[in-house]
Amino acid sequence: MREMDQGVQIPPKLLSSIFLAKEEIDKASNIRVISHYDADGISSAAILCALLNRAGKTFQISMIKGLTDEIVADSDDSDLLILSDMGSSNLDALEKLNCRVVVLDHHKPLRDSEKVVHVNPHLSDIDGMTSACGASICMLLAVNTDEKNWDLLPIAFGGIAGDRQTIKGLSGVNIWLFEEGLKRGIIEAVPGSLVPSGNLVDAITSSTEPYLIGLSGDKDAVRTFLIDAGLPINSDYASLNDEMKMKLSSLIALKLISQGTPLETMEEVVRDRYYFKSVDMEAEMMSSLLNACGRTGQEGMGVSLALGDKSAMASAMELRNEYGSELLSSLNDLSQNGITKLNNIQYFYNTKSGLSGILCGITMQYFGDADKATLALSESDDKTKMKISSRGTFPLLDLGVDLAEALRETSAQVNGFGGGHRIAAGATIPIGEDKKFLELLDVKIGEQKKAKSEETTS
Ligand code: C5P
Ligand code: C5P
Ligand code: ZN
Repeated sequence: MREMDQGVQIPPKLLSSIFLAKEEIDKASNIRVISHYDADGISSAAILCALLNRAGKTFQISMIKGLTDEIVADSDDSDLLILSDMGSSNLDALEKLNCRVVVLDHHKPLRDSEKVVHVNPHLSDIDGMTSACGASICMLLAVNTDEKNWDLLPIAFGGIAGDRQTIKGLSGVNIWLFEEGLKRGIIEAVPGSLVPSGNLVDAITSSTEPYLIGLSGDKDAVRTFLIDAGLPINSDYASLNDEMKMKLSSLIALKLISQGTPLETMEEVVRDRYYFKSVDMEAEMMSSLLNACGRTGQEGMGVSLALGDKSAMASAMELRNEYGSELLSSLNDLSQNGITKLNNIQYFYNTKSGLSGILCGITMQYFGDADKATLALSESDDKTKMKISSRGTFPLLDLGVDLAEALRETSAQVNGFGGGHRIAAGATIPIGEDKKFLELLDVKIGEQKKAKSEETTS
């Protein structure tokens, strides 16, 4: 897709499905939108909200944890149903509805649809795991509807960062959005650093990226660490002289190496960040605010802050601090008490399902075994089901691991369901089936690796 000399192009098939979606919106007078509850889903919802508002449409938006065929069957009470960051796995149910349907998704679909307007980057050979998320697709629709919607780009990048599509550099639809945003003076790329920005003591104490065992979450330990290194405690990283900056970065790198953090993770931390002058914010901050809203059941607050509501922003900042403290205390617990390891996976039980995905990612990247897929299990609120989140790494994918396939197939073997992306997937299984599920999954991932190594050696 990328032709460096001529700039990035959006594939014609993807663009034509975007125009079909636009036509459906033009024709509809009463629209229902259902989106996912995570940072990408909330960004997608906020972009659609602005787009529909500006187009003078009557609409209703809801955000949910997961789409089931039962929810779909109950959702044809408008002229048009739009699904964002979900829907590609529910085409059978969506095709049975009596209303028009637009799906704006980036999860790998099993097929395309004649009846539903199905916008998905995978159908144009763009990887929805790395190169376009739900918010990127909604943004593509927004800017192809009205040039003035380019001001929504900071929201789209909140989704892109939330789905971790910035960690290896931008590609696909995301780089197209970046380059167009750059031309319009909306976005800037700034180099990242191993040392988090802001007041040194506060920033290192609250840091989860990088997560520093013994420092993250412990203000006194951070003060002592800085004093012992001869560094000022009341300063920002940006105000340090070059020698001090170098010293602090090296000390943090050494600390990470000594806790077993792979080089790959450190390279991800120093990746470029995307800054938006209009909201004076980096994409990661927008994503962490939306994430805090979504994971605590305040998706509406997330949409409001993304659309510029100052009081929603202030409340979300507080929520983010509380959520950050909970995250740090869970991480400190996990790094001290360890996780259970099988041959190909490592797992832990967690009481707060909202933190599961992020806990898996940080555990695996900073102190767990980087060569094992990581899972968190938590009981559903009604205690009838077990919810599972899993995360992998790019080196694991190179070894043949596909978490979406592994969780989908293994959960089905215990009467559950699951899916997602190769690198990040989830499942829901009946309570009591967890041990069997984990054993089956360990074997399945072993088989995936074996199949890949046989393919490479043959
Ligand atoms: O449903 P959706 O696709 O938006 O969710 C993707 C999830 O996978 C997000 O929680 C995102 O943070 C996670 N992810 C990850 N590592 C990646 C890509 C995605 O943890 N490399
Ligand atoms: O919930 P979590 O953030 O761990 O989900 C990771 C990915 O797996 C997301 O893309 C989510 O949409 C997907 N997922 C799924 N089916 C489930 C649970 C999660 O497709 N039952
Ligand atoms: Zn997404």
